Formats: sequence, structure tokens, C-alpha cells
Amino acid sequence: MKAILLAGGLGSRLFPATKNISKQLLPIFDKPMVYYPLSLLMLAEIRDVLIITSPEDKNSFERMLGDGSHLGMRLEYAAQNVPNGIAKAFEIGADFIGSERVCLVLGDNLFYGDTVKPLMLKAKAAQLGATVFGYKVPDPQRYGVVAFDQSLNAISIEEKPSKPKSNFAVTGLYFYDQDVVSIAQSIVPSARGEYEITSINQAYLQAGQLSVELLDEDVTWFDAGTHESLREATNFVADTQRTECETIACLEVIAFQNSWISLNDLECIANSYPQSDYRQHLIETILNETPLL
Ligand code: DAU
Repeated sequence: MKAILLAGGLGSRLFPATKNISKQLLPIFDKPMVYYPLSLLMLAEIRDVLIITSPEDKNSFERMLGDGSHLGMRLEYAAQNVPNGIAKAFEIGADFIGSERVCLVLGDNLFYGDTVKPLMLKAKAAQLGATVFGYKVPDPQRYGVVAFDQSLNAISIEEKPSKPKSNFAVTGLYFYDQDVVSIAQSIVPSARGEYEITSINQAYLQAGQLSVELLDEDVTWFDAGTHESLREATNFVADTQRTECETIACLEVIAFQNSWISLNDLECIANSYPQSDYRQHLIETILNETPLL
């Protein structure tokens, strides 16, 4: 399976913080925002990722993450010239996707919780249809919203409805079969002029091919696209890292845990980094993995 990480857009809700820098390069506490969705793809054990950015930011992302070989991954880059909708990712990424199934993650989404990985692996194993993930929120008007019948079957998905039919937001993580490229070509722009990811999900729902997995209470999810949610996400990462003594979205450690890089590779990377809490986490991982003589 391949994946697309969508990190373009104007970041207009974060203006002027995004005046000269891509939203997804802004920090969530101690690391760039894009680390969080990228780490999620790594937890789903997906190694081939296309990162789509705005044309002016493409070089910055490439400089930061390179070709991914240091993580045992294959990262490619493409630009979206006009930010005219999330669904356009499948047109831009059509050649990259080829005849494979594909996961899409939005570059401003952060997921944290033990049950996320098994749910992603289940979605990844499904050969047909699409899987999306619902999360209970107090302000569903901000999101795609999925509603259910009494047997918990999804019956509708709407983008930013003024009168939401449920409190379940559709999060920015999606798994699709090969049909997604042709479905994306067939949808029309919404009233706000965007090619909506929700239109794709509606097509799968109408075909009886959409699974909706509800994320457990133990999962934390943020769409860090506003000043307030960015602040909340930053506080969450700072607090969780301190209380759990761990580093969320530490790419190199996940690559090592996936056996995509060796302990020796991890050591070389750690040695190349400046003194920082992030480097210290790499060193502690190396020490924990090194047998006592
Ligand atoms: O975060 C979940 C929500 O994301 C979903 O519930 C909604 O259904 C979905 O439409 C989306 O809503 P947002 O209002 O949060 O989308 P936003 O415009 O912020 O775009 C999400 C990410 O995709 C963001 O990192 C920017 C990027 N993007 C967006 C558009 C429209 C692009 O790279 N290109 C685009 O054309």
C-alpha cells in the first residue's frame, strides 16, 4: 500500500503565522507538524509516501525529509499548484499510486493512542472499499460529519454541515482501494468551489463500500488548523511527553522499531544531530537496546 501526505493549502486560518512558512512546518511543541502524520503512516507500516505541498514550500519539505532513505522509506514530492481541494491529491498522485491501494493523511492531523495502530492495520488489510475514522467532537460543524442508524451503520456524510446530524467528525486519515483515483476524477466541486474528500467518501457510502471505525475514548485527535487547536495540540504533546517520558512522533525510533533501519543507523543519526531533547530520546533508545556487557 502507498500513502499520500497532503501538506499544501494556504494555512489562511493561521495567518500571519503562515505568512512565510507552510502550516505543516510550524512546530507542534518540539517538532514540525508534518512529523505527526508522517509518524502515523510509519506506524501503519507504509514506506512509500508522496508528500504534496504548495509549489513554494516543496523545497523546504525536501530539504527537511529528503528521499526518506535515512528512515528506510521512499519519500517523493509533488506540488499542488492551486489548493482547490483535498480530493485533488488523487489526481496529482495518480502515477505514484499506480494500481495500488492508498492511504491519505492530512498534514495537520495528530493522532495519539494505543488503539490507533491496530485499527490502521485492519484498514490496511481490507482489499476492497474505503475506511474512515470517526471521532466524537463538541464542534462537528468544523469537520466532515458522519451519522449512523441505530445499528451503528453509517447513513450520511456531510462536509461542515450547519446542522450536524451527529457529533462524529471524520478525521483526516483515509484508506482506499484502487477505485479512488477514478472516483476522484468523477466528483464535482462543492458550493465553496473545492473538490471535497467528503464527496469521495459519499461515493463509497452510496456504493455500500465504506467502513467507519470509531476511535476509542483513549485516542486523542487534533486537527491543528486553527490557532486554538494548534495551541491545544502543543500543550498535549508537551504534557504527554513529560508525564509518559516518551517522544511522540520520533521518526527515527519508529523506523528502528519497524526494523527499517539498524541500531547502528540510529546511532549514526543520533551522532549527527545537535544536542537536544529529541537527540537525547534517540540516545536513550539506543542505550535501552544495547545489551549490557
Ligand atoms: O481534519 C479533518 C477534516 O479535514 C475533515 O473532517 C474534513 O472533512 C476535511 O474536509 C478537512 O477539513 P479542513 O477544513 O480541516 O481542511 P483544510 O482545508 O484545513 O485542509 C486539510 C489539510 O489538507 C491541510 O493540511 C491543508 C491540506 N490541503 C487542503 C486543501 C483544501 C491541501 O494540501 N490542498 C488543498 O487543496
